[in-house]
Amino acid sequence: MEKTLVILKPSCLQRGLVGEVTKRFEQKGLRLAGMKMCQLTDKQMSEHYAQHAGKPFFQQLKDAMMVTPVIVCCYEGVGAVEVVRQMAGATSGRKAAPGTIRGDLSMSFQENIVHTSDSLETAQVELKRFFRDDEIFDYEQPHFQFLYAADEL
Ligand code: CMP
Repeated sequence: MEKTLVILKPSCLQRGLVGEVTKRFEQKGLRLAGMKMCQLTDKQMSEHYAQHAGKPFFQQLKDAMMVTPVIVCCYEGVGAVEVVRQMAGATSGRKAAPGTIRGDLSMSFQENIVHTSDSLETAQVELKRFFRDDEIFDYEQPHFQFLYAADEL
């Protein structure tokens, strides 16, 4: 089953939206496989946002991710990468559709509440960046048989 990374950004923590955002993933049926609060570093952010290096907002984006601790989460489910991205919505909170996390909770490009991995390959790299193997947990959820049909697994 797919695993993907979600970072609850400083905008999420500062605005008291951790419960609201994690509730959405929980209610959707994604299994929380890992979660920890951490203070990100410039080195981590330069690596994580390498595709934005050189863009005018690069340093500002990195600084905004380090202004408070963040919460990194690993969610698991069938097609989890795409499901989580759809739930997050378009990057800019002003463009994101109502019903999505950013569409409902954000007015900003930068202060857009969550980071989500954009592909399965990226998710694997990003999860390794923020979690040790022993920080990702496999455990059974008793309601699992009511989340998927057998042929969806
Ligand atoms: P995220 O999903 O974390 O991935 C890259 C981040 O860069 C993105 O969310 C935004 O927060 C930020 N970003 C992308 N484009 C811009 C922009 N034009 N101005 C400011 N921040 C941006």
